[in-house]
Amino acid sequence: MTVCEYKPGLEGIPAAQSSISYVDGQKGVLEYRGIRIEELAGKSTFLETAYLLIWGKLPTKEELVDFEKEIASHRRIKYRIRDMMKCFPESGHPMDALQASAAALGLFYSRRDLHNPVYIRDAVVRLIATIPTMVAAFQLMRKGNDPVKPRDDLNYAANFLYMLNEKEPDPLAARIFDICLILHVEHTMNASTFSARVTASTLTDPYAVVASAVGTLGGPLHGGANEEVIQMLEEIDSVDNVAPYLEDRLQKKAKIMGFGHRVYKVKDPRATILQDLALQLFDKFGSDKYYAIAQEVERIMTEKVGNKGIYPNVDFYSGLVYRKMGIPTDLFTPVFAIARVAGWLAHWKEQLEENRIFRPTQVYNGLHGIAYTAIDQR
Ligand code: CMC
Repeated sequence: MTVCEYKPGLEGIPAAQSSISYVDGQKGVLEYRGIRIEELAGKSTFLETAYLLIWGKLPTKEELVDFEKEIASHRRIKYRIRDMMKCFPESGHPMDALQASAAALGLFYSRRDLHNPVYIRDAVVRLIATIPTMVAAFQLMRKGNDPVKPRDDLNYAANFLYMLNEKEPDPLAARIFDICLILHVEHTMNASTFSARVTASTLTDPYAVVASAVGTLGGPLHGGANEEVIQMLEEIDSVDNVAPYLEDRLQKKAKIMGFGHRVYKVKDPRATILQDLALQLFDKFGSDKYYAIAQEVERIMTEKVGNKGIYPNVDFYSGLVYRKMGIPTDLFTPVFAIARVAGWLAHWKEQLEENRIFRPTQVYNGLHGIAYTAIDQR
């Protein structure tokens, strides 16, 4: 066996062959199935993009209508899942609630008919349809309210905002939210997708695949960064405080949340689109003082660390967009998960098509031949 050089975090090591998405981190290019993200953000919808990623081609009009109808008719969650969620502590993080709820779905649909396209489609539909309902249900239940039933007449994005805020959203906000879902749905071999593929490779059920990916997405170095960006902007609090804040953090070698990326060495194309979406929302619904602070953070960071290839990533402006829509800060990462579930499912399906269980090796750097010491002699 060839012994490869050890790379912490598997940096630069291909973990799979995939035709789902492509990133050119030097040029700031992101494509889903060969289509540029800018084009999809301008012309597609989240469900059409999810279809494209999972089934490898844009759906015909008929295929899209069928898919949308199927999703709409599977949005309700079982009473028993709802009752289980009611027992979760209100103080718990919504990502933990989502991970537990996604895993619980597996209790109801445990059959693993992984070679059957009908089983695969059902699981895809059920997960994409119910994850938003579970996120919204936990939000209302932790406030002491009953969850709102999904509305079949509203599209995917509008229905989520309706279930969350208990009122029908403004059409511009719903369209912008749908674009946010397109921007977050897929991003090559990131940590949560890798988790999803490792779990999938054991041939377990798709609910376990999604639950393990949700757990991975929650960390602050991955999807959890969007929450921390808003916390940072709140802490900075004024444009004048940006320079001393960054000076202090950079001197201490602390990471500035929402900046830097393992792959992009230029501004993340999704950050550019999100910045524009934030401006559209501010135009219609009024400005946000934290936007000026964010712009100053970007300006000074570019000046100070741009030469190291550290620029805003997808998490930097997304929080400002979600805040304007009335989404609480600790739901930013669950919202990321609502989108990314379709990407994980595309990878689940691709992994099953040519599966080999993940079983990397390690470089052992411990001792050998150590004698056991009796407990009273330690
Ligand atoms: N702020 C300040 N310095 C940074 C940052 C940052 N956000 N990111 C990287 N650096 C510096 C780092 O200090 C190091 O400098 P030096 O060479 O002088 O020691 C250099 O850049 C390389 O850093 P690294 O940590 O080895 O880079 P990485 O490729 O392992 O890190 C990253 C990628 C995303 C984990 C990292 O940039 C980071 O922690 N960013 C902040 C958290 C964040 O925004 N995460 C969201 C990532 S994008 C969405 C997602 O994946 O969900």
